[in-house]
Amino acid sequence: MPRLHVNIDHVATLRQARRETFPDPITWALAAEKAGAQGITCHLRTDQRHIQPDDVKRLRRALTTRLNLELSLEPGVVDFALRIRPQSACIVPEKRAEVTTEGGLDVVRERKRLLRVVPLLAAKGAEVSLFIDPDPRQVEAAFEVGAHFVELHTGTYANALGKKRERELERLRDAAALAITAGLRVNAGHGLDYENVAPIAAIPRVEELNIGFAIVAESLFSGVREAVTRMQRLVRRGSRAASSASGGR
Ligand code: PXP
Repeated sequence: MPRLHVNIDHVATLRQARRETFPDPITWALAAEKAGAQGITCHLRTDQRHIQPDDVKRLRRALTTRLNLELSLEPGVVDFALRIRPQSACIVPEKRAEVTTEGGLDVVRERKRLLRVVPLLAAKGAEVSLFIDPDPRQVEAAFEVGAHFVELHTGTYANALGKKRERELERLRDAAALAITAGLRVNAGHGLDYENVAPIAAIPRVEELNIGFAIVAESLFSGVREAVTRMQRLVRRGSRAASSASGGR
């Protein structure tokens, strides 16, 4: 069954809207851990629009599960990550004007920089993941640059409806299978919510789902505990339904 990693960026977005000291993303992350989150993810963007460097330092000290730090290939952020030594590092593309991460990293184009940065992060003890679209060329390139994991971008699936969503799901399943065959490990995330998570949780051998916005938004109504446990129930149900359909294989 995939582990649930909760992305706390949007707790920080709310705090930064007023440049206040609250709501504190670390306090919220600890409540998510207490509710059963198996890891905490945050994205230190170059523009620092939500998570701040000090948040990452505090998370690294306070978490009892795992810190998954999302970062771009921008040298200052990479140097910071090397000092922080997160348990996981997920390399993502970043564009200044985007509302959120749009699309996966172009590993083929970034090959040279990745061949330098991936081993540096790995040498500091991080499991290195590349956030990619479910595209066979990107999966193969991720293997070539030495990543441990790919995180499959589920945003297009999440935004699609009907037959188009089915097609996107098929692309994700195929990319996951290809990655496993190549010797990579597989995570998934982006745009997942209470309505669309189950089929993703059912993809064989996906190890971790990174989910942020939907859980943070739901926590405003039902509290952190309920928002996390409800998502976890859906992940469990999706994964169990798949394994009983395949006879437990
Ligand atoms: N995975 C990656 C690589 C991301 O960049 C994000 C968004 O920061 C997420 C997962 C979580 O996406 P969402 O907030 O839509 O659940």
